[in-house]
Amino acid sequence: MIPQVLLDVQQAFGYIPQETMTTVSTELGVPLIEVSRVAHFYKAFSLKPRGKHLLTLCMGTACHVRGSDLILEEALVELDTEVGETTTDGEFSVECVNCLGACALGPVVVLDGTYHDHMTPSKLKELIESVREAEKGERN
Ligand code: FES
Repeated sequence: MIPQVLLDVQQAFGYIPQETMTTVSTELGVPLIEVSRVAHFYKAFSLKPRGKHLLTLCMGTACHVRGSDLILEEALVELDTEVGETTTDGEFSVECVNCLGACALGPVVVLDGTYHDHMTPSKLKELIESVREAEKGERN
């Protein structure tokens, strides 16, 4: 029950604000420490605000041997941020995981829930640029 409610909270806010954990605790009648434990246990939950776009890079073994470290390096340089952080413009957050369950298609990245297989540094750069261009188009 707690994970599902926290998932709903994250979908609503983009992350799990501290004060909502108190509300969840009260509404479900469970200790706040239990809600906090669940929120901290699952890597899918973010306890700080995320960027508008979430870029998840797989660093698992199958992706690693196919160059995921170079893709990560490209992502961090292109976005000028760090793993677990959000760009200063609030557009992108970057996170790494150990497997996305699509090992045969590696290296794999997920951008806003969409899987991109056989990723390369240049393909990632194009992907990020396409998102930026789309954002510019929406603003104009
Ligand atoms: S190791 Fe990357 S998808 Fe499994």
